[in-house]
Amino acid sequence: MASPLHYYHLLILSSLFSLIVLSESQTAFKPTTLVLPLQKDRTTSLHVATIQKRTPLTSLPFLVDVTARFLWADCEKHYLSTTYHAPFCHSTQCARAPAHYCRKCPSPARPGCHNNTCGVLASNPVTHKNATAELAQDMLSIRSARGSNPGPMVTVPQFLFACAPSSLLLGPLPKNVQGIAGFGHGPISLPTQLASHFGFSPQFALCLTASPNSNGVAFFGNGPYYIVPGIDISARAAYTPLTVSRQGEYLIKVSSIKVNGKPIPIKSPSAKQGLIKTMISTTTPYTVLEHSIFTTLTQFFAGQLSGVPQVKPTVSPFGVCFDSTKLPSTRMGPAVPTIDFVLGNQNVAWSIYGANSLVLARPGVACLAFADGGLSPKAEIVIGTYQLEDNLVQFDLGRSRLGFSSSLLMRRTNCANFNFSSTP
Ligand SMILES: *[C@@H]1O[C@H](CO)[C@@H](O)[C@H](O)[C@H]1NC(C)=O
Ligand SMILES: *[C@@H]1O[C@H](CO)[C@@H](O)[C@H](O)[C@H]1NC(C)=O
Ligand SMILES: *[C@@H]1O[C@H](CO)[C@@H](O)[C@H](O)[C@H]1NC(C)=O
Repeated sequence: MASPLHYYHLLILSSLFSLIVLSESQTAFKPTTLVLPLQKDRTTSLHVATIQKRTPLTSLPFLVDVTARFLWADCEKHYLSTTYHAPFCHSTQCARAPAHYCRKCPSPARPGCHNNTCGVLASNPVTHKNATAELAQDMLSIRSARGSNPGPMVTVPQFLFACAPSSLLLGPLPKNVQGIAGFGHGPISLPTQLASHFGFSPQFALCLTASPNSNGVAFFGNGPYYIVPGIDISARAAYTPLTVSRQGEYLIKVSSIKVNGKPIPIKSPSAKQGLIKTMISTTTPYTVLEHSIFTTLTQFFAGQLSGVPQVKPTVSPFGVCFDSTKLPSTRMGPAVPTIDFVLGNQNVAWSIYGANSLVLARPGVACLAFADGGLSPKAEIVIGTYQLEDNLVQFDLGRSRLGFSSSLLMRRTNCANFNFSSTP
């Protein structure tokens, strides 16, 4: 007959055994920084992450979305994987998912369709359509960083994501994307799962490239974040407090906007208090401004650039366009007045130079790359991808702060300069 002491010994033995098994499989290498290549899509100007998933590992393109709280994939078409698993309703995995519920599925069982699993609401950030998706887990593999080059691939065997119907992918998304990579704030978002699996601090950074011909990069973890020629682009970042909305979106507060060093006269109540609600979005190609801010910025900018002929009619969705042949070009793009988003106190500003403020809309026509958000947009300023490109933007969730480098062109480098070739 087994005494309680026996059980006790057995328990110790079995936990020792599992410790040994664990250390055998996991000792090898504990990454502190991970890197993911990003590409700019030529048609939509949005950015796509290539993620290795499933067994056998398959490279799949996902739209980068910093406002989405989890990754979802189209599971209806060719989902083949030996490691797919849909956790049961009421499981610990389901408890981590936002707003989940128990679901049944009438069709034959397949990835995305099982009984007694948990459902989550997945949405398409471009069309704003929603669909029920099955919470699932499968293998995810990602490159670690070793100094300024990639290191070994590391895996998250049970990465949680949602399995959505193909119909949710309809709409003007970058070609071939298989779903949405959610970088938003939440317990199962891509950055959160990577940080908790590898035990590094919950932070990530985006360096979106302006060129569709080369890779930008997302960094996860502690850094440093090196790019050619050996510059740590996180080193001289400025910081501003970062908050999170109920939906997991990242928010900062802009206190004023300057053009050519002069504050523009914005009349909205929040601007008077120096608290302009500002959201970061990677599914918005050009920064969208609340109507009165848009009008004021457009007029003020045009006034400061009065020596350059305007082009009429203006190209949609922009407010003012110029004859680009009359704009001298510099290392920082066309020579135009700098736009500063002043953050908090007057010493910190996100400076926007010609490369991020003017876009060549047609040959010979350069437009101010901001769009009118009407009277009640989601936030008064929604910073879009054109203004994020060639800037390092760090989301430090542990310390609730946003780090930003302003234009890397100033430091004679850009976001296409992470060296993705491995050292032998
Ligand atoms: C779920 O259960 C129902 C019966 O309650 C059955 O008709 C259906 O085929 C099942 N679905 C799956 C995916 O197994
Ligand atoms: C999708 O769901 C969100 C809430 O998650 C809601 O605000 C939005 O209106 C829904 N969209 C549609 C088209 O139903
Ligand atoms: C990129 O890394 C490889 C491997 O270490 C190295 O040979 C190459 O010179 C690097 N490229 C640049 C532009 O630094």
